[in-house]
Amino acid sequence: MPLFLLRRSSFKRLFSSFKEVNNTLDDEKISKTTVKESSQRPTFKCFTYEEILEATGGFNSDNLVGRGGYAEVYRGVMKDGQVLAVKRLNKATNERKEREFLTELGTIGHVHHPNVSSLLGCCIDNGFYLIFEFSLHGSVASVLHDEDSPAMSWKIRYKIALGTARGLHYLHKGCQRRIIHRDIKASNILLTADFEPQISDFGLAKWLPTQWSHHSIHPIEGTLGYLAPEYFMHGIVDEKTDVFAFGVFLLEIISGRKPVDLSHQSLVSWAKPILIGNELEKLIDPRLGEDYDMAQLKLLAFTASLCVRTSATWRPTMSEVLEVMVDSEMDKEKWKMPEEAEDEEEFWGFEDLECECDSSFSTSPLNSILTSSS
Ligand SMILES: Nc1ncnc2c1ncn2[C@@H]1O[C@H](COP(=O)(O)OP(=O)(O)O)[C@@H](O)[C@H]1O
Ligand SMILES: [Mg+2]
Repeated sequence: MPLFLLRRSSFKRLFSSFKEVNNTLDDEKISKTTVKESSQRPTFKCFTYEEILEATGGFNSDNLVGRGGYAEVYRGVMKDGQVLAVKRLNKATNERKEREFLTELGTIGHVHHPNVSSLLGCCIDNGFYLIFEFSLHGSVASVLHDEDSPAMSWKIRYKIALGTARGLHYLHKGCQRRIIHRDIKASNILLTADFEPQISDFGLAKWLPTQWSHHSIHPIEGTLGYLAPEYFMHGIVDEKTDVFAFGVFLLEIISGRKPVDLSHQSLVSWAKPILIGNELEKLIDPRLGEDYDMAQLKLLAFTASLCVRTSATWRPTMSEVLEVMVDSEMDKEKWKMPEEAEDEEEFWGFEDLECECDSSFSTSPLNSILTSSS
């Protein structure tokens, strides 16, 4: 049977399960540390191709708002004025990308949290389309790294850091299954009209059975600069993979720097000596000047330093991250690593990893690393 037809039949099963899950999630106590749940989960809808064609002006390039690894995203307006984001799987795509698209549908259709992007529906006529609420400000990457706009204020940066941590905590702990996102990064965190962050792009997400400690994955996919060492080197994936990426994301928000700069230096290798030396004024985005809250900066920088630890065991869980991010009274000694672990951190310094990564692209099995661009 052609792959496409096979997929169509599994779509039907998927849709019928959404209704069930909606009911369960409404009653579920999602998380003890999350922000107050907003409204009920939006109803999932099957859009017709004609509807999305009209909404996006025939996928007019003026409405193109984003382009990722395997899809294009268009802004669309429905007849009733509702503004949508329509994610269209590239026509010339391979089976693996198609699978990612379905993964995204299967995962995001089952999650509901103010800090996770909401899926409104999908369309399977004339290709594959996912339909989301439109995020007015685009992604964190587009706002943070836009040199033509004023610098993102510290207040918004802090709000984004906290909201993203809550969304990620929900994925790991609060929803029906353990979800490992695997591609936490600034271009996958969208911003609502009031700059509430929403985790999006579940193309690489994995559901982990509770009894599994981790998952071994091949090929290694994700985005350089955000990849945890154990994942990058051995394909090991668990919650700590996302915690590491979240740490890089925090460093990005604090410093305004990209995870890998033009000279190929990773943000982590740049930031680690600064964090160790506690020279926070070197870490902060110079575009902010003096306009930041030192107490909050200390908390975010400390959290980031824990999240980007080489050893996954010594990284905090997202529940711990949420505690550390807001507790200025916290006893830092609690997070001190034993000496052997400190030595290991130095041995596996990120600089070493970076060298391997640079030299690997043409020669080693690490060739298989697939990096997404958005
Ligand atoms: N709901 C949305 N509202 C506004 N812009 C969006 C939305 N979804 C995606 N985008 C834009 O499109 C880009 C690519 O979307 P994404 O879902 O990450 O695709 P890919 O899986 O191809 O990376 C994002 O970085 C963002 O700029
Ligand atoms: Mg993306």
